[in-house]
Amino acid sequence: MDRDLVVVDDVAEKAVEIFLSAAPRAVVLSGGSTPEAFYRRLAELGYPWDEVEFFFGDERCVQRQDERSNARMAEQALLSKVPARSYPMDGERCDARSYEDTLRGRFGNNLRFDLAIYGLGPDGHTASLFPGKPEVDVVDRWVVEVREPGLEPLVPRISLTVPALSSARLGVFLVAGQEKREPLRSLLAGEDIPAARLMPERLVIVADRTAAD
Ligand code: 6PG
Repeated sequence: MDRDLVVVDDVAEKAVEIFLSAAPRAVVLSGGSTPEAFYRRLAELGYPWDEVEFFFGDERCVQRQDERSNARMAEQALLSKVPARSYPMDGERCDARSYEDTLRGRFGNNLRFDLAIYGLGPDGHTASLFPGKPEVDVVDRWVVEVREPGLEPLVPRISLTVPALSSARLGVFLVAGQEKREPLRSLLAGEDIPAARLMPERLVIVADRTAAD
């Protein structure tokens, strides 16, 4: 795997630049709060949005209008503003199997994203794959239910697995803030945290100066 670390002042701005040069059509969005500014900037771009499909890396099992919903955040920041097609995970039913069916209906047996956006948790988790939890080791499915997440919000989750998240031509971690210093160090050192298991064809880690210090 080809890997680069890019340290910048503005993670969202760099992410937009990477998005434009990758010119993706099938994109995986991450949840959490770091990507929101990136999504808002994407929404302002002139882009062939009607050719784009957005998928999700994970979801919290809450009502769609709940402020903890990853789909709600993406909807407000981006999806409601551009004519792209989106495939949110159903957090209300918390049904991993139906998202697996959605992906198989769309991709058959060859899952292939052009771009996957990844988050990095303070404990080294990514999507909803938490250290020490059994879902990190699942390789025979693309989507899992995560009954007990390792961190807040402590609600069940749905998550893509390591092989599904790795099925991308380009994977991009967005990393910002002081609490990401330690997991970023572990990721770069190749320690066995969930985030370090992702193996897209090419990986770019975009970190702000605080996280990379
Ligand atoms: C989630 C996530 C999660 C997130 C990281 C980073 O639903 O919680 O998808 O993996 O990306 O925890 O989150 P922040 O950007 O909020 O720090």
